[in-house]
Amino acid sequence: MLRRLLLASAFAIFAMPAAPVLAADDNTVEVLHWWTSGGEAAALNVLKKDLEAKGVTWQDMPVAGGGGEQAMTVLRARVTAGNAPTAVQMLGYDIQDWAKLGVVADLSEVANKEGWDKVVPEPLQKFAKYDGKWIAAPVNIHSPNWIWANKAILDKLGIKQPTNWDELIAALDKIKAAGYVALAVGGQPWQETEIFDNVVLSTGGPEFYTKALIELDPAALGSDTMKTVFDRLIKLKSYMDPNAAGREWNLATAMVITEKAGMQIMGDWAKGEFINAKKAEGKDFVCFRFPGTQGSVIFNADQFVMFKVSEARHAAQLQMASAIMAPAFQTSFNVVKGSVPARTDVADTAFDDCGKESMKEIVAAVPKGAMVGSFTHGHAAPAAVKQAGYDVVAAVFTGQYDSAQAVKELVKAVAAAKEEADRKPLSRTAGEGG
Ligand code: GAL
Repeated sequence: MLRRLLLASAFAIFAMPAAPVLAADDNTVEVLHWWTSGGEAAALNVLKKDLEAKGVTWQDMPVAGGGGEQAMTVLRARVTAGNAPTAVQMLGYDIQDWAKLGVVADLSEVANKEGWDKVVPEPLQKFAKYDGKWIAAPVNIHSPNWIWANKAILDKLGIKQPTNWDELIAALDKIKAAGYVALAVGGQPWQETEIFDNVVLSTGGPEFYTKALIELDPAALGSDTMKTVFDRLIKLKSYMDPNAAGREWNLATAMVITEKAGMQIMGDWAKGEFINAKKAEGKDFVCFRFPGTQGSVIFNADQFVMFKVSEARHAAQLQMASAIMAPAFQTSFNVVKGSVPARTDVADTAFDDCGKESMKEIVAAVPKGAMVGSFTHGHAAPAAVKQAGYDVVAAVFTGQYDSAQAVKELVKAVAAAKEEADRKPLSRTAGEGG
């Protein structure tokens, strides 16, 4: 009964789209994902080829839009129409919320046989398991607290890697004064909120980040530290170019690659774009942790969730889950994607310096409570809360709120969204209002 109620409330507002025709072959997996940029597509191809070599046919269902909001809208429409894809790229709380509805497949058979429990970091298991069962196969660990910089620009201007806020500002001032775009930003709410996450971690440290963005503590959200965070966002805004509005994240990366912009604050999927453009770390570009966040890791792990389909098709789902978790695949995929393996028993030899650093930091950060879920990418709070955060941060970037008002609005918006998320799982995953 509860499940029926949840399903009804989650799906009530959707129109029924025409159901696409699926291939009849039981060995086909239809994969819904948002990996459409150059670097993302190259990584996806590694997965596709791996599966095809194992006799699994790939049916592609790409939905463009960095961060995956549009993909989640399409997913809801498909499930509402009774035509769920076989496998879906998904993040954080969305995975748990779909599991609550009872529509996702159980992968425990293969997970237990292969001992995923022992190798997948605990913070990822929290999202990959529901009710004691494995319901998702994690393909990577991405980390959003990085800066990607054009090495030629840094060298020309004699800029050393900034390690704190003041040094970052001094570096950005120099780049701006030399006539470059100092900070390449895509003016979309999720990209702006990713900068916010970084500034929260840098300004308040992992404990403050956890209190404010994971525990959603009103005192932390309404604190002077949070006001400083918004002041800093307003400062960073002054280094953006006037054409940022609506720009996709990979086009912002391209500005750094082509020496138009000095730096981009972005998750390490940006590295996939550099690699795809044949640029090398340490030679053409450098990566460093967002100043003030060294030793801490914001994580964002892509996982594949399988939806309940016919028994005949379940075998292909298990095969895909097993292929994703294979150690050799985790290496070959993640060196292209810019991320690191979702299991801790994979050697770091094939990875560049940023990858190696990331792998070490993850192992060290977990026991210290310094590996924190990405707020922007749904690993800190459910979708409704995340969207509420996007709205406040976007209003700061458009100049609608100053820092004092932003703090007040954040406390209010998060409280309302939290209540909504408890009452209505998956609300606002499809971009609809409260
Ligand atoms: C994230 C996803 C990454 C990445 C990025 C940009 O949500 O986890 O894999 O590619 O979006 O599309």
